[in-house]
Amino acid sequence: MSSFKPLVFSGVQPTGNLHLGNYLGAIRKFVALQEHHDCIFCVVDMHSITAQLVHDDLKAQTRSIAAAFIAAGIDPVKHIVFNQSAVPAHAELAWIFNCVARIGWMNRMTQFKDKAGKDRENASLGLLAYPSLMAADILVYRATHVPVGDDQKQHLELARDIAQKFNNDFSARIAAAGLGVEMMVGEEKVSGYFPLTEPLIEGPAPRVMSLRDGAKKMSKSDPSDLSRINMTDDADTIAKKIRKAKTDPAPLPETLEELEGRPEAQNLLGIYAALSDRTRKDVLQEFAGQQFSVFKPALVDLAVEVLSPITKEMQRLMDDPSHIDAILKDGSDRANVLAGKTMADVREIIGFL
Ligand code: TRP
Repeated sequence: MSSFKPLVFSGVQPTGNLHLGNYLGAIRKFVALQEHHDCIFCVVDMHSITAQLVHDDLKAQTRSIAAAFIAAGIDPVKHIVFNQSAVPAHAELAWIFNCVARIGWMNRMTQFKDKAGKDRENASLGLLAYPSLMAADILVYRATHVPVGDDQKQHLELARDIAQKFNNDFSARIAAAGLGVEMMVGEEKVSGYFPLTEPLIEGPAPRVMSLRDGAKKMSKSDPSDLSRINMTDDADTIAKKIRKAKTDPAPLPETLEELEGRPEAQNLLGIYAALSDRTRKDVLQEFAGQQFSVFKPALVDLAVEVLSPITKEMQRLMDDPSHIDAILKDGSDRANVLAGKTMADVREIIGFL
């Protein structure tokens, strides 16, 4: 019996502008993963209408995520880059998963509780079913690994629960159709149609905080543009924002422990370490005893060197939407072929005529 072919899938929502936190936390990880894995990277436009139905320019937002992927170095020829709504099988499988998943599972999702807030009755049904669509995104390609942040781990566990229930409930049909694949579940070897997808957490994800307030996450919704470095900022803007970043008057200490209680200093150190692929400890050794008047210019040079080729390329791509659309079309053509095979199997397993 065969086993699942390793395949990485991840999705990014086309909401708001991408910033340094998105780059360091997600996109840069994707770029590293593509060296040794087959990857599918999806702009999940259907997810973006779950919390807010009407968007000013969803097309432009979708293109900008694709442009960021490509500008950062994802190869859309070797791998697949596309937008979710162009592959209808995601919605089709999500419907089936809506019938696999239990309402109780969905009600337990912390992200749903957070996003729906007090007025749960008034949240869209799509917001409740969001994790079911996410499971379909992954499993329509029978992807084995998903790079995700901490906030998405619960959704990924739910995708495993859906896969497991589908595999169990249809075990006889899967076997009869000869569609079972062997996998290990704990100590036990079992057979099923969908893999139990694993999270991929490569190295510690840097927590990139606001440049104006080290206690707040860097965010697209912060009213101050100085609080974040956008993936479309040019070199001068990146430099200006780092020069204006909030700090404290003390010099950099010798040890990480001494940085406790200095969130702005921690943040800038973390950004330096992430951009240079070094540990924070290592960077601290270099700058121990130095003032921010020395550290900041070094960070400006580093950030401009690493980021400005990417932000420049992103701008260039955004100026030519038809080129991005062609890349996405090629990606969705190939994704449709893969997803179509899964859906033919799933229809057979369920017994749709
Ligand atoms: N829910 C994810 C987020 O908001 C986006 C997403 C949708 C996703 N489908 C996915 C991530 C599949 C990984 C795999 O970040």
